[in-house]
Amino acid sequence: TKQKLWGGRFTGKTDPLMHAFNESLSYDKRMHAADIKGSIAYAKSLTLIGILTKDEEAKIVEGLKKVGQEWENGTFEVKPDDEDIHTANERRLSELIGPLGGKLHTGRSRNDQVATDMRIWLLDQVQDITQSLKAFIRVMVERADKEKDYLLPGYTHLQRGQPIRWSHLLLSHAFSFHADYQRLQQLIPHISVLPLGSGALAGNPFAVDREFLAKELGFQFLAENSLYGVGDRDFIAEFMMWASLTMVHLSRMAEDLIIYSTAEFGFVTLSDAYSTGSSIMPQKKNPDSLELLRGKSGRVFGNMSGFLMTLKGLPSTYNKDLQEDKEPLFDSVATISACLKISEGVISTMEVHGDKMRKALTMDVLATDLADYLVRKGIPFRETHHISGRAVALAEARKCQLNELSLQDYKSLNEKFEEDVHQVFDFEASVERRQAIGGPSRKMLERQISVLRNALEN
Ligand code: ARG
Repeated sequence: TKQKLWGGRFTGKTDPLMHAFNESLSYDKRMHAADIKGSIAYAKSLTLIGILTKDEEAKIVEGLKKVGQEWENGTFEVKPDDEDIHTANERRLSELIGPLGGKLHTGRSRNDQVATDMRIWLLDQVQDITQSLKAFIRVMVERADKEKDYLLPGYTHLQRGQPIRWSHLLLSHAFSFHADYQRLQQLIPHISVLPLGSGALAGNPFAVDREFLAKELGFQFLAENSLYGVGDRDFIAEFMMWASLTMVHLSRMAEDLIIYSTAEFGFVTLSDAYSTGSSIMPQKKNPDSLELLRGKSGRVFGNMSGFLMTLKGLPSTYNKDLQEDKEPLFDSVATISACLKISEGVISTMEVHGDKMRKALTMDVLATDLADYLVRKGIPFRETHHISGRAVALAEARKCQLNELSLQDYKSLNEKFEEDVHQVFDFEASVERRQAIGGPSRKMLERQISVLRNALEN
């Protein structure tokens, strides 16, 4: 028990099963750089309050940097008694610089240390995820810009509704991800709250300068209450909520594309790079990338809901239950990072078939336009909706398309119909009539594209 940092009051040994059960090093070692960074700042703050001399600080900082390099080079040797990244780093520091290493933890607890490390680590990950998210939105916007000519039915209830442009649909997803981007930026001030200097729970007894620590570590705010500082994990829950919502958006986009890539639709073909085959059916090309995007949304949501259950009912400040914040967070970060990169690849490489989309357009999707035609002749919409519905029924009974009904037929439904009714049966004209902001007309799509491009510049 001498080996354990907390071994002083213990005489009995830890059960090996208990050691394995308790350890977190196997997964929290990914925070090695955050832990070293936090410790270097803390060593500097100890000099400011006279706990360390300048010389001692220099030795500790140098030792910590060596420990950090060992992690970077893959030469850090884990010892059987190492419990987590904090105890492992401190143990190694003392091996390298001797008993002086034992001064580093003055006034500090693993409780404020781990809460600090998690925040440093997550802030870093958020930067990476932001870049992936932007790159993904960018490929959607670029495709949308190039593929404005393709018309297809827009669906509600998966039933053909009204004609839209393919770019309009692509941009609808891009706007969801744009909102996710904004929400992710809004999380940063919630993560950037520094717990260091909160001690185990009751604060730091050596009057450490926490404002100095926040500046050193680039934090925007201080945890203003030490009990809150060590016990709060809401930033982790919030990140996982964000990830869950973003995964829901990836899942819905994936579902659209899975449907559109079936032979029955044939609107898109996934690149071979993001598809896989069947071990028995030679003809198969399955959209596994999209199915995994859809499937992994469940896992990310599970991480979030599981962790909320962990938090619920915990007494104040630190409890070991909080160590359970790590695996779900690490998994959510890894999963969403991979999903965003895969999504970017899928979208940038898939083929889009404008001809197939066009073939799916049937005249019935212009029934709303037909009703609107009569509105322009002064008839109230509630009546024109009904008249257009009767035209649909008549065409259905005759097994023909709306544009194949004669002017006589139309006049029998309402005398306001004239020769120009045939101008209604033009899909391109229909989308171009939708000039209000948000619509599928070329001009409005250009507006959407420029809104997103401007947002991506920040
Ligand atoms: N590995 C621990 C965690 O992840 C570090 C904090 C341990 N603190 C303690 N008092 N046991 O939460």
